[in-house]
Amino acid sequence: MKKLIAGNWKMNGSRAANEALLTALAAGLPGEPACEVALCVPAPYLAQVHALLASHPSLSGIALGGQDVSAHAPGAFTGETSAAMLKDCGCQFAIVGHSERRQHHGETDALVADKAKAALAAGMTPIVCVGETLAERQAGRTAEVVKRQLAAVIHANGHCISEIVVAYEPVWAIGTGQTASPEEAQTVHALLRAQLKAATARSDSVRIVYGGSMNAANAAALLAQPDIDGGLIGGASLKAADFVKIIALAPV
Ligand code: 13P
Repeated sequence: MKKLIAGNWKMNGSRAANEALLTALAAGLPGEPACEVALCVPAPYLAQVHALLASHPSLSGIALGGQDVSAHAPGAFTGETSAAMLKDCGCQFAIVGHSERRQHHGETDALVADKAKAALAAGMTPIVCVGETLAERQAGRTAEVVKRQLAAVIHANGHCISEIVVAYEPVWAIGTGQTASPEEAQTVHALLRAQLKAATARSDSVRIVYGGSMNAANAAALLAQPDIDGGLIGGASLKAADFVKIIALAPV
């Protein structure tokens, strides 16, 4: 199974900045990367980035993803983006349950599970984010929290969970420059792997990626862990040179 390196641009970018970033990425990538690469970009730029990826031969293998998806079917849901729309814009992935959405938009485990279901039904791969806050970690509740978050998705999606990507993103490591140590991350990834194994016979196809201040300096050690199947990268994915380095560090 190839590792997955996914960039999450979050609410960053402009038409000019996106074009500059992708031109720099195209120049930095030597050829077909050994790993799978995806870019999860703000919804207004999906069409622009889709066209730019297709126009650079060295970027044409990069997949496109949304940063969120509505749990609803198309209809009267002002401001939301349906899974069918993301798919129509060329998305293969959709992030669901990012901690920034859980924290700032009140997303519950049940809603995140429904969003994963909507993405799967549209033929996309949901990147399901789980992760504990600093207070939860300090209270020794990390395992309980991430298992509860993943259990909701398993419960709602049954055997289809073999089609998901799980992203372990400890909330205290996101955008803080404080990364989970490779051992800390591996411990949680192994827990999640065991939970997936108990839920589906096809758990081997599920990638569990790490996110939280992953950068060119720490990526190699994190990606060397047996249960870390890639990365979900925020800040460093906005810097072409750093993102290219991380891609180069991801073994098959
Ligand atoms: P940073 O890499 O900026 O810490 O963000 C991680 C993240 O939230 C990716 O989804």
